[in-house]
Order: sequence, then structure tokens, then C-alpha cells
Amino acid sequence: MSALFVLIILHGVLVACAYSAHNNLTPRKTVEYEDNHAITFKEKGIWNYSTMLIREDLGLLMLGAREAVYALDINDISVAKSKVLWKVTEEKQQECISKGKHPDIDCHNYIRMLHQMNDSVMYVCGTNAFNPTCDYITYGDGQLKLEEKQEEGRGKCPFDPFQRSSSVMIDQELYSATSYNFLGSEPVILRNSPVSLRTVIKSSWLNEPNFIYMDVVPESENSPEGDDDKIYMFFNENAIEYDFYSKLLVSRVAKVCKGDMGGQRTLQRKWTSFLKARLDCSVPEPSLPYIIQDVFHARHKKWRNSIFYAIFTSQSSTTDQTSAICAYNVTDISEVFSRGKFKTPVTVETSDVKWVTYSGEIPVPRPGDCINNAARSLGIERSLDLPDKTLQFIRDRPLMDDAVRPITGKPLLVNRGPSLTRLVVDHVTALDGQSYPVMFIGTENGYLQKAVNYDGEMHVIEEVKLFQNAEPVDVLRLHQSQLYAGSASGVVQMPSSNCSRYISCLDCVLARDPYCAWDPTAQRCSRLPSLPNDADGHLIQSLKDADATRCPITVTTEPNIRNLVLGNNIRLLCRPDSNLAQVSWNFTGKQLLSSDRKYTIYSDGILIYNALTADAGRYTCTSVEWVKGRPYTQTLAIYDLQEKSIVDVTEKIQITSGIVLESYTTSSGLQELEGKPSRPETQTGEGKWVVMQVALAVLSVMMGCLLIWNLYMGHISPFMCFGRQSSKTPRNCTERGYVCTVGTEHDSLDGKPQTVRLRLASNSDVEATNFHRNAPNGNVPMDTQIFKYITDESEI
Ligand SMILES: *[C@@H]1O[C@H](CO)[C@@H](O)[C@H](O)[C@H]1NC(C)=O
Ligand SMILES: *[C@@H]1O[C@H](CO)[C@@H](O)[C@H](O)[C@H]1NC(C)=O
Ligand SMILES: *[C@@H]1O[C@H](CO)[C@@H](O)[C@H](O)[C@H]1NC(C)=O
Ligand SMILES: *[C@@H]1O[C@H](CO)[C@@H](O)[C@H](O)[C@H]1NC(C)=O
Ligand SMILES: *[C@@H]1O[C@H](CO)[C@@H](O)[C@H](O)[C@H]1NC(C)=O
Repeated sequence: MSALFVLIILHGVLVACAYSAHNNLTPRKTVEYEDNHAITFKEKGIWNYSTMLIREDLGLLMLGAREAVYALDINDISVAKSKVLWKVTEEKQQECISKGKHPDIDCHNYIRMLHQMNDSVMYVCGTNAFNPTCDYITYGDGQLKLEEKQEEGRGKCPFDPFQRSSSVMIDQELYSATSYNFLGSEPVILRNSPVSLRTVIKSSWLNEPNFIYMDVVPESENSPEGDDDKIYMFFNENAIEYDFYSKLLVSRVAKVCKGDMGGQRTLQRKWTSFLKARLDCSVPEPSLPYIIQDVFHARHKKWRNSIFYAIFTSQSSTTDQTSAICAYNVTDISEVFSRGKFKTPVTVETSDVKWVTYSGEIPVPRPGDCINNAARSLGIERSLDLPDKTLQFIRDRPLMDDAVRPITGKPLLVNRGPSLTRLVVDHVTALDGQSYPVMFIGTENGYLQKAVNYDGEMHVIEEVKLFQNAEPVDVLRLHQSQLYAGSASGVVQMPSSNCSRYISCLDCVLARDPYCAWDPTAQRCSRLPSLPNDADGHLIQSLKDADATRCPITVTTEPNIRNLVLGNNIRLLCRPDSNLAQVSWNFTGKQLLSSDRKYTIYSDGILIYNALTADAGRYTCTSVEWVKGRPYTQTLAIYDLQEKSIVDVTEKIQITSGIVLESYTTSSGLQELEGKPSRPETQTGEGKWVVMQVALAVLSVMMGCLLIWNLYMGHISPFMCFGRQSSKTPRNCTERGYVCTVGTEHDSLDGKPQTVRLRLASNSDVEATNFHRNAPNGNVPMDTQIFKYITDESEI
């Protein structure tokens, strides 16, 4: 059993390591909830803030929640200008309950759709206790008003509040993709208009889809072919084209033409222009197709330059998910439909149907094409005039043979850990005059990550905790450099960047945040204007190279003098600016190691056990951040410990620079800090422990070899393995303490590091709380490490 066990662990570790070797995606900075400086909105008793509509003309953020719609001030969402309640009637509630639905979960009115119809009227739909209903809302004299016209919402809004759906309002006509019936088993893509159209009820058209997103692309603009505008839809569904032993989901993009009016005999009142193709977003590892979760449409004045960005997640059911972001050129999508091959079903002996490339004759006009100049020259002015041959072809073969591939052929980001749920993208012009797409990504545990891809290199600038609870980001919007995010419990507003979070030149430049540059005159990290102009070239920013050598060398850190109380456990704090930096401690000229039982080194400090006279002296905390092969070294703190006789006191000294020293004494003279940290010395369960030790020994050797090989080959920098991205609880000091040991042992800082000395300034109270939360508890660290990699293994 143990041999297998070891093998499994090894395999897991190697795979995990290989993973982190090509995407070290630890966010460089972590901003905790307490420090996010976000503006929030929530109202007592109201939940599920999941629908947003930006009304720039009115200066409003329209917000749909459970049984309420708000008009919030777009500049400060904590100000609700007006609100309307839209509750379920007693009768509808009873009806819902009698159909077997949960009274508190299902039988409410979840607002799922908000669209602008014209300057004065908005269209709103809610699930209304499994009885979807729509209505009109007006905003005038600072007041929202529900018109109470109560229109049928079937096919516009889902019955089930947990079901995904999507919709878009184009020229006062609503396009919607949702399920049409109570059971949620009849998917439909509808246009509600004088000539309303819908999809054919066939599994080759829609096969248990989850609708994600839709939007219009104005392809008629300056079109030499006289083309029409197109509506693109993104969803995932059960594949029809693969032989697979169980249900296999695939991601799709589909399109219809705006001017479609349906067919005359064939496809009457159905789309005659519906085509779909597989969306490809392949990660380097072999895996099942990734599943689309959200889409952002980065519109461009010229539609051919517009881009769809999409989040995908892996299709396995393990807890530690892999997510990816791919970008698609609208032109590429359009070409797959207008020039690509089709797939066709063929019946094989077993009466199974296989989908293969269609190689027969393609009727004219080409199936799925909008009415264009070529069609018009044949006397076809409307889809009603299309010949039956073309229409029958589309009815039976709506699937393209080619998949749509992402720009550059691979994902912009691959991320392990909590799933990514929503994204928006801002194109930022940096100091070098180039425009960089900055991705803001909501996660299932309530964080917002900010990421950029620099010439194929993925970089996560920061992660900000948006909500107190670990709840998914359900909706995300970007408007004029402000981000708005909604979840089950509330909404937050935050600027797209807060450069003053970067406290030094090194921090500012190594952040590689396109919004920010270091201003040496003002001595601060400042936000670039939207059209950056740095005529005299004094601002410092280095996005692709991450070169901070221009940063001025600042003053030397002053030593802090502290008392050493004999027999005490002493903690010295020191926290790096960056999660990617490694901290090392130096005591009277030699480096301290966690393997020495005298010390435990944490991500934000060191603990010295049972202080002796010999422990008095100078302690120096240094951080090294390796970026692009260059080490950036900073002295973060210096402590002079001076011996003092035993006193029966608890001291806590806070220093303005934010470094805290605490020592606790009891009458016994020896006490663990708040009873939390204890040495991971002995472990119970002898048999298991032996296996563990063997496993660990083999592991260490293998790891060592792997590391050395990788280092030798220059594949990874010394600290990449065991990166935090593979952890479910990434902000765990224990794990990073472990990293420190691995890192420092291989960390030969002999590459002539240039030393930049800086002063640390941060909030001391936060450091103290962090310490206690992050303290290790007994034998947990090793176990969690190992079992985590077994989880990884099961995912392969
Ligand atoms: C930016 O961050 C600084 C320091 O963390 C904070 O004081 C300030 O309020 C923040 N500004 C905004 C607009 O969030
Ligand atoms: C706005 O749309 C509504 C609903 O279609 C219509 O009743 C109203 O007259 C329109 N108002 C204006 C100003 O166009
Ligand atoms: C999309 O593709 C078209 C045609 O190949 C090209 O002209 C355009 O620059 C591309 N846009 C982007 C953003 O890559
Ligand atoms: C609504 O919010 C509650 C938490 O308050 C959550 O449990 C539930 O899943 C949410 N429902 C939907 C449909 O998002
Ligand atoms: C420790 O610090 C001393 C004094 O700053 C320095 O001379 C020595 O090289 C350092 N040693 C290590 C291993 O970093």
C-alpha cells in the first residue's frame, strides 16, 4: 500500500510542480477585506444583488436584487436615489409551493433582467416564484416607478432563479436565451418582436444548454458585402459530436442575423440564420474541454477589432478547479460561420448517429448567411425568400466543423484554485504608449483579481477581497475606471486601480500595474492620466521587463531596540510588500533557518523559542523578490534584542513604522503566544507517521532533483513550486513558512543582488491579527500538503 501511496504522492507533486512551473499565478499582492476601501451598498433583508444596468445618461447604476430594484448614484453607490419593491403575491407564492418548490429559496421574485428601452423606459423581468414576469420601469423626478403592466416573461427570464440565462435589447427588441418551461427542459433562443422568432426544438440545435452571454456586433457597418448585424450567443451544452462514455459538455458560440424573419414554408417563425461552433480554449495539459462561464465584449469602433474575452473552468468535479481565460477575435468567429465547413449527421449500423465533416454540395445562398448583396442579386430580399434547400440544410446541420480558436492559440491566463466566475477587461494605455488589456476577474470566494498577460507571460497584479463572506461574484461591471461587483449579500464599488497601495518605488514598479508609475519628484506611486504624457521621462514604469533598477536607493532602516526576556518566546514582525518575495532572517551575520528548532519563520515574522542570553543581538529581516531573473533585495526591519531580567508582564510595543514586537511572560516564564503556535515536534499515530516519513524522504529527494534540474535548465525560479495558487486557503502562513524553507535552502543570493533599502510602513494592528490567524497548529502543515496533491492526482 505504501509504495502505491508514495507513487501517488510523487505523481501528484510532479504534476502540481509542472503546473506551477509554467504558471506561477500567485497574486503579487493580497488586499484584505478590511483594507479594500470599497464603497458598499446592501439593504437589510434584501439578497441576491445579481443584475446591473448602467445608465450613464441618468448617472445611475440600476441594480436588480431579490424583490427589489434600486437606482444608485453611479459615482457613489452607497447613495440609493430610489427603490421599488416587486414582491410575489400571496397567490403566486402558494401556487409555487404547491408545485413542490421551496418557499424561501424558489418562491420569490429574483430580478434577472434589466434593459433600457428608450430614454425614459426600462424593461425588467423577474422569476416571480417560478412564474417569470416582466414589467416596465420609469425613472423621473428622482423616482423609480414600476408600471405594473405585468407582461408574460416566459422565454425571456428563467423560471428557476439558479438557472443561467442571457438577453440583450436591440432597437427595442428583446433577444433572450433561457428555458421556456417550468421544468427548465425546453431551451429557447427567442426574439420578441412583431415577427418573433425562436430556435427549432431539436437536440442538434440546443442540447441542455446553459446560456452565458449574448451581444450584437454591428457587422453591417461599411460592409462591402452588404452584410447584416449579428447577434452572438455563448453557452455550453452537451456535445453531440463526440463519442464519450458519459455526458460531455462543450462550449459554443452561436449567431443569428438581426434581419432574420424566418422561412416561408420551412423554418416558419424559426431562425434561418442560426449557426453554432465549438469554442476552443485548450490548456497545455490534456483535459476534457473547458466550460464557458462568462464573457466580456470589448467593443471597438471598428467591429473587426472587437474582442470577446471568456472565462472557462475545467470539467472535473474536484474542489481545486482550474480556470482559464481566452480571447477571441470577432473577425475569426465571423469567418468560421461565413467560410467554415459544416458538420453533418450520419447514421452508423448501430443506429447511432455520428457527426462528421460535410463534404457534399453546399446550397446557394450559403446556409446561415445573412441576406447580403449576393443574395439580393438573386432576388432574395428577405429570409422569407430563401429557397427550401438552404433552409433544410440549416435545419439539419446547424453545427460548424471548425472550432473557433483563441487569439494566439492559447489562454491568456490559466489559474488553479478557486474558480473564476466573472470578468471585465479594460484597455489601458501605459507610459510606453501601448495599450494593455487588464483583466478584472471575480472569483467564487469573493475576490477580485487583476491580471495582465505581457507577451505571453501571465501576471496577477493583485487580489482584493470584496465581500466579508466567501461568496461568488455574481455580476461585474466596469464604467469609467470604476468597478461594480454584486453578490448574494451586497454590492461594492472600487476604482480600477489605487496606486497609493504601492508604498515604495520598488513596490510600484514591480507591481507592473499599467495604471500606475512611480513619480520620483513627488515620491509616490501615481495614477497615469488616460493619455499618459511623460515628456521629460522622469516617471518610472516597466511593465514587460519589470526592471526596477531606475528606482532610487532610499534611506537605511533604523534598528529597533527591543528587550529580550529570558525564557520567553519572542516574535519579531516583518512582512514583505509582495506575496512573491521571500523573507530571510539574519542573526549576527548568519542566516536563520526554520529547520533549526529554535525558530519558526513565518511569512510575516519570526518566532524565537525560549530566549537565552545567546539570542541577544541584531536580527535583520530581508526580502528578495525575483523578477525576470533579477533579485530585488530590501532590508525590511532590523531589531536589536537586548537582554533583560525576567519580569512578570505582558508587553506589547507598537512602533510607528508598523513593526510590532510582542513578548508574553507568565510566572513560569514560558508561554506560547495565545496558546496558538506550538512546535511541530512530535506526531501521534506511529504507523502512519513512518509511512509519511518514508514518503517525505523519497519526496524530498525527488523534489530536490526536480528543483535542481529545473533551476539548472532555467525553467523556474527557485520559489515557484508550492506556490500558493494550488492552495484552497492561499493566505496560509504555515504553507508559506514551508515555502521559505524550501526557498532559502536553494536560494544562493550570490548573483550580485543589488540592494535597495527601504522602510516598511503598514498597519501594525492588521499584522498582529494576521499573525494569530496564520499561526500553525500542530502537525497540520505536512498532512495538508500531501493530501492536497492526492486531490490533484485524482483530477488527472
Ligand atoms: C487607496 O488606498 C489608500 C491606502 O491603502 C487608502 O487610504 C485610500 O482610501 C484608497 N483610495 C481609494 C479611492 O480607494
Ligand atoms: C418608450 O418605450 C415605451 C415602450 O415601448 C413606449 O411606450 C414609449 O412611448 C417610449 N417613449 C419614448 C419617449 O419613446
Ligand atoms: C482580428 O482579425 C482581423 C482580421 O484578421 C485583424 O484585422 C484584426 O486586427 C484582429 N483584431 C485583433 C484585436 O486581433
Ligand atoms: C441568494 O442569496 C442566498 C444567500 O443570502 C444564497 O444562499 C442563494 O444561493 C442566492 N440565490 C441565488 C439564486 O443566487
Ligand atoms: C548577515 O548580515 C551581516 C551584517 O548585515 C552581513 O555581513 C552578512 O553577510 C549577512 N549574512 C547572510 C548570510 O546574509
